[in-house]
Amino acid sequence: MAAPHLAGVVALIKSIHKNWSPAAIKSAIMTTADRLDLDSKPITDDYDRTREPAGLFAIGAGQVNPQATIDPGLIYNIMTSNYIQYLCGLGYSDKNVSVIVDRQIKCADIDNISAEDLNYPSITVTLDPNVTKTVTRQLTNVVISGAEVYNAVVEEPKGASVVVTPNKLGFGGLGMKKKFTVEFKITDGSMSKDQESEGQLLWRSPKHEVRSPVSVTFA
Ligand SMILES: *[C@@H]1O[C@H](CO)[C@@H](O)[C@H](O)[C@H]1NC(C)=O
Ligand SMILES: *[C@@H]1O[C@H](CO)[C@@H](O)[C@H](O)[C@H]1NC(C)=O
Ligand SMILES: *[C@@H]1O[C@H](CO)[C@@H](O)[C@H](O)[C@H]1NC(C)=O
Repeated sequence: MAAPHLAGVVALIKSIHKNWSPAAIKSAIMTTADRLDLDSKPITDDYDRTREPAGLFAIGAGQVNPQATIDPGLIYNIMTSNYIQYLCGLGYSDKNVSVIVDRQIKCADIDNISAEDLNYPSITVTLDPNVTKTVTRQLTNVVISGAEVYNAVVEEPKGASVVVTPNKLGFGGLGMKKKFTVEFKITDGSMSKDQESEGQLLWRSPKHEVRSPVSVTFA
């Protein structure tokens, strides 16, 4: 039943923010979702009846909070051109990318990006031992009035370190964009190959919280 409910939430957002892209709407839904239930406890996974806290692959970004989606503070936007960079970066042939976007594309002429660098509101990386992996994101201010300063609050996934640079971002007016990087590294040998570990990145101002789930797989 998630799809019809989300379609209704999208219609609600679009009726208020008529010029938001599909990616902006999705970002607003994801970054304002609740990780806790109405008793302020972690949402549990009903799947195997153990009632353990649900992992990211069960809960996604969390439980949608329709009212909060209207005022997310910041959004992670993605334009059509970014999806083309992404498809080329995934290694699809010119022919296949052209079929997907319905016009002639030559990936050699495109500044491709890796899958991790798509400006998505969640972050997933695979970490090799002794190798630092850095991903880039860009935030856009969608608050009409008033400057806000956000601080990065990181919950590190077990076994990995996460460094956000810069860890403080100031936004002046509507539409202002700021980039940041997130650097991942394995910190110890507590996680074995193919294990997965979860954390989060929260950008917090006095008025807004912009939350991204973070998932790390150990290669
Ligand atoms: C993406 O661009 C980089 C740098 O130009 C290049 O090394 C890499 O092979 C390209 N990747 C793909 C999948 O085309
Ligand atoms: C392109 O798409 C075809 C199927 O339509 C698939 O068989 C092929 O592996 C794809 N190749 C590349 C390089 O993307
Ligand atoms: C990682 O670094 C440590 C210490 O320098 C080294 O002992 C180990 O072999 C390295 N592992 C890999 C997979 O390169």
